[in-house]
Amino acid sequence: MGNCCALLKSIMGFATEDFIIQEEHDGRLPKQKKVKVVFVLGGPGSGKGTVCAKIVEQFGYSHLSSGELLRKEIKAGSEHGTMIQNMMNEGKLVPSDITVRLIQKAMQETDNDKFLLDGFPRDEENVRTFEKLTRIEPDFILFLDCPEEEMTKRLLSRNQGREDDNIETIKKRFRVFQESTLPLVNYYASKGKVRKVDAARPVEDVFESVKTIFSSANEQGA
Ligand code: AP5
Ligand code: MG
Repeated sequence: MGNCCALLKSIMGFATEDFIIQEEHDGRLPKQKKVKVVFVLGGPGSGKGTVCAKIVEQFGYSHLSSGELLRKEIKAGSEHGTMIQNMMNEGKLVPSDITVRLIQKAMQETDNDKFLLDGFPRDEENVRTFEKLTRIEPDFILFLDCPEEEMTKRLLSRNQGREDDNIETIKKRFRVFQESTLPLVNYYASKGKVRKVDAARPVEDVFESVKTIFSSANEQGA
């Protein structure tokens, strides 16, 4: 796919971003699908899923949660199901190849050009694999900043039957977030791409801040 993009760019002057999700059709030019992507990052229980549902309603994005896609994969009885389940129960990161392919497939199957990637990317390998497979650069990163104490309280009272919502696994999830994901947030911040929100407030207040960010992104055509 990379070679195809490079070739088209050199011959026809197209930007690679114009061929983000490519589908080959009988050797004809790939079908173009130019997309807008926002990465939604934050610790476990920071409210990523909650806020994404609200952004979908108000701004028409499609919401793809890497955690949800992985849970669906387990339920569907995929060949990797047991391995994914074990890693999630340990709060560890599932191999990028699996996660990115699930995201890419979901994007290809969705008839929308605006995506919220919730909980993705979580480490550098996620980013590298995603860029290699899709050539997509995010428009910006929405970062939900929330103290661990508040996140712990939320996760322990969530009651949705998630096997990873127990105190031992929650602590491991926090550690992975600190060690692998926060450095990524800092990297994107150094490129001026992070929009940080205080996520320790009530849902409606958090969403007020988020609305301002997305409204301004819309105005700027970002
Ligand atoms: P994932 O499913 O993404 O879990 P997570 O990141 O730990 O986050 P949660 O879904 O638990 O919380 P959230 O931030 O969405 O908060 P929510 O809105 O639900 O990932 C699970 C696992 O999958 C990972 O540990 C890893 O193993 C694997 N994985 C996922 N992505 C991966 C990737 N990219 N690469 C490799 N592996 C990956 O809110 C939580 C609760 O708080 C709810 O009850 C909600 O009602 C409440 N709440 C929300 N906002 C507020 C608020 N402002 N005030 C009060 N309560 C609130
Ligand atoms: Mg979630």
